[in-house]
Amino acid sequence: MSLDVARIRKDFPIFTRTIRDGKKLVYLDSGATSQKPQVVIDAEVDFYAKHNAAAHRGAHQLAEEATEMFEASRETVASFLGAKTEEIVFTKSATESLNLLAYAFSNAEPGSQFAIGSEHSIVVSEMEHHANLIPWQQLAKRSGAELKWFGVTSDGRLDESNIDSLITSKTKIVAITQQSNVLGTINNLDHIIEKAHKVGAIVIVDACQSVPHIPVDVTNLGADFLAFSGHKILGPTGVGVLWGRYELLNNLPPFLFGGSMIENVTMTDATWAEAPRKFEAGVPNMAQVVGLAAGIKYLQSIGLEKVHEHEKALTRYLLNELNQIPGIAVVGPTDVSLRGGTVSFTLEAIHPHDLGQYLDSAGIAVRTGHHCAWPLTRALGVPATTRASLYVYNDNSDIDALIAAIKDAKKYFGQ
Ligand code: ALA
Repeated sequence: MSLDVARIRKDFPIFTRTIRDGKKLVYLDSGATSQKPQVVIDAEVDFYAKHNAAAHRGAHQLAEEATEMFEASRETVASFLGAKTEEIVFTKSATESLNLLAYAFSNAEPGSQFAIGSEHSIVVSEMEHHANLIPWQQLAKRSGAELKWFGVTSDGRLDESNIDSLITSKTKIVAITQQSNVLGTINNLDHIIEKAHKVGAIVIVDACQSVPHIPVDVTNLGADFLAFSGHKILGPTGVGVLWGRYELLNNLPPFLFGGSMIENVTMTDATWAEAPRKFEAGVPNMAQVVGLAAGIKYLQSIGLEKVHEHEKALTRYLLNELNQIPGIAVVGPTDVSLRGGTVSFTLEAIHPHDLGQYLDSAGIAVRTGHHCAWPLTRALGVPATTRASLYVYNDNSDIDALIAAIKDAKKYFGQ
């Protein structure tokens, strides 16, 4: 099931350039943002060059074309997720999708299913990146709800041992990641979702690191809302997705107010359009949405199962090679059936920032630091980590380059 990476790389113009004085670009930072295939770049250019107009406004041909392209993209995203078309909301980012939800809860009328107060709790995990932690911290502060969280085991898995004291009849929201952006851990959320639904809680899944890499079908997943960003799944920046179970999404109060999200407006009041329109105030990010659909179609043409298998094989190879370097400590599961291709590690006596700089000088792009998941870094007891994250355009030669450069760095730093 291996991918033809040489052919795939030809679809990504960035790989025609070199880095740091003529070196081959070894891009191992797809967890931060993915590279873009030409079809995505072309889709955006084509929209601006031939179809640009404000979707859902205007009675002219261009406006009609822009609307059709925007709505066809919604259908692409919906079928990709196994969702209904009207369950897909376009936002500017996953961060905005999650903030939208948190603010919508704040805007809920007392007594509604979304109303939250000091009698409630919000449950997250120590594994969250800031985008799925801070909005809930802030909602807890605004509402008086208690913030609780799942911890992380020493091998980088979700610690579900105290689930009964975390998810209780007070729980209103469970917001949890499907795949850690630091540990690579893929969380099987079945038990948590089942438990949350038993107590009437709403489950929100952060799928930023999962949807680009593993097949995700929202019907099978069984959660209530799910968020991911476009730029990590081969799409442009400036576009995110919020999926919501329709009856919940349609009952949810809006967050941003303005044009397009209304049903009727007087000088003193307004009523709202049905979902998803009521969450898409203002002229939408049409070109980015069209680009995202092109990225998803490209990924579908490879096949998500194949992408996942490819990344598993690469991850196995990477973990095996890293383990042979004295001083390397991988954080997160070492069993590839429990994780994706995001591999963070420390290297004794060399600070990740120094290592990252050294790797960059060799043309290798990794991320170093706390990866926007500061509480997790603290829980792991490390100042920071170096993170290599893999995608469809990586192969063993990228890993060989990384391993060789780490060995060189050890010599350079006198280790
Ligand atoms: N959450 C993104 C990352 O992991 C930005 O790098």
